[in-house]
Amino acid sequence: MDIQKIRTDFPVLQKKWNGKYPIYLDNACMTLKPRQVVAAMDEYYTEYPVCGGRSLHKMAKMVDEKVTASRETFRKFLGAREPEEIVFTRNTTEGLNLVANSLDFKKGDIVITTDREHNSNLIPWQVQAEKKGIRHIVVHSAPDNTFDMEKFGEMMSKNVRLVSMVHTANLDGYTIPAKEIIKIAHDHGALVMLDGAQSAPHKPMDVKALDVDFFAFSVHKMLGPTGMGVLYGKHHLLEELAPFIVGGDTVSDSTYESAKFLPTPEKFEAGLQNYAGIIGSGVAVDYIEKIGRENIENHEEKLNRIITDGIKDIPGLKIIGPEEPGLRGGIVSFTVELPKGGDAHDIAIVLDETANIAVRSGAFCVHSWFNYRKCGAAVRASLYLYNTEDEAKKFVDVLGKTIGLFA
Ligand code: ALA
Repeated sequence: MDIQKIRTDFPVLQKKWNGKYPIYLDNACMTLKPRQVVAAMDEYYTEYPVCGGRSLHKMAKMVDEKVTASRETFRKFLGAREPEEIVFTRNTTEGLNLVANSLDFKKGDIVITTDREHNSNLIPWQVQAEKKGIRHIVVHSAPDNTFDMEKFGEMMSKNVRLVSMVHTANLDGYTIPAKEIIKIAHDHGALVMLDGAQSAPHKPMDVKALDVDFFAFSVHKMLGPTGMGVLYGKHHLLEELAPFIVGGDTVSDSTYESAKFLPTPEKFEAGLQNYAGIIGSGVAVDYIEKIGRENIENHEEKLNRIITDGIKDIPGLKIIGPEEPGLRGGIVSFTVELPKGGDAHDIAIVLDETANIAVRSGAFCVHSWFNYRKCGAAVRASLYLYNTEDEAKKFVDVLGKTIGLFA
C-alpha cells in the first residue's frame, strides 16, 4: 500500500488550515473523498444530469447503464448472489429502518441487539415495541468487553424473530463473531441483520459465506458521496418485505384504489434517486478494491497499535473496548479524567486548534452504553487508508501535551 501515492488522490489533505495540513482522524463519522469519486459525480452533473428508470432518451439510458453498473459493483463487493439484493439507500440508518418497519413483526416477537448499538439500531426497536408490541432485549458484553456468546445462546428461543447487531462498533471498533452468532440464530429460526457501517469500509465482507440475512451500511464512510448507503438482503427476504417509502417507480401500475408493486430493488427505491451519488458510490468501491480491504484492515491495525501503545499509560486515560488493539480495528476511543477540569470536548477542541487534528468527542450516538455505565463523554480517533504512521505518532504526542494542560 503506497500511502503517499494514495494521499495525492485526496485534495483536502493538500489544503492547509491556519498554515498546517489536517490530520483527519474522524473517519468513523465520515471519510474523505478521492478525486476519482468527485470526477464521476461531476461527469454526471456535466454530461447527463437526468433521471433514471423512466425515460427512453439517450441521456436517461446512460444514467440507467451507470446505475446498473454501480449496483453490480456492490454485488461483487459484498459477494451477493444477485444485483436485485442490493438496495440503494441514504445511509445505514435508512437500511435498518427499512427492515424494522417492513418486516411483519407480531406482538411478542423478540429482537436481540448488543449493548453497544448506535441509536440507529436501537431506536427503531423501541419504536416497534410501541407500535407492534415486539420485545427488544440486549446481550451485555463479557467483562473483557468481548461478545458474550454464552449469554447470547441462553437468550435465544423460538420467539426471537430477529438478531440485529452492530458488526463493528463505532464506539470502540470491536467486531462481533458474526459467523457463530448467525449460525446460532438460524438454528433457532431467527433472521440476522448486521449494521455494517464500520465493517464494510474496513474489512473483507462476503455475505454468502457469512449467511447474513440483511446487511446495511453507508457509502459516505467508505470514500463515497454523502447521503449514500446500501441495504443488502437475501432475494427471497426482500421480496417478502413490505415496501417502506412508496411512490414513483415502486409500482408497475396503479388505480385510484390499488397498486401493483415492482420486485426488489425497485419497490424500495421510491422517487427520483441520487444518481450522482449512486454513480460516485460505485467508483468509491472500485477505489477500495484496488487497494484491497485486507491491506486496509492491516494498515489500520498497525496504526491503532502505535496509538494504543502511545496513550494507554497516560494517567486517568481509559481506552474503551478490549485492551488488544487488534480487536479494535481502526478505532481508539477513550475517556479521560482531567483533574484541573475540562472534558472530552475540550480535548477535541484543543487538538483541532493547536494541530489541526480532527477527532470526534461525545457519545458517538451510543448514548445507551454511556448512560448504562454512568460514564461521561469520550474522545475517538478513527483511522482510514490515507492515515500515516507519522500522523499516528503526532496524535500521541499532541494528545499527551493536551491532557497535560488539564492535568
Ligand atoms: N455513526 C457516526 C459516528 O460514529 C456518525 O461518528
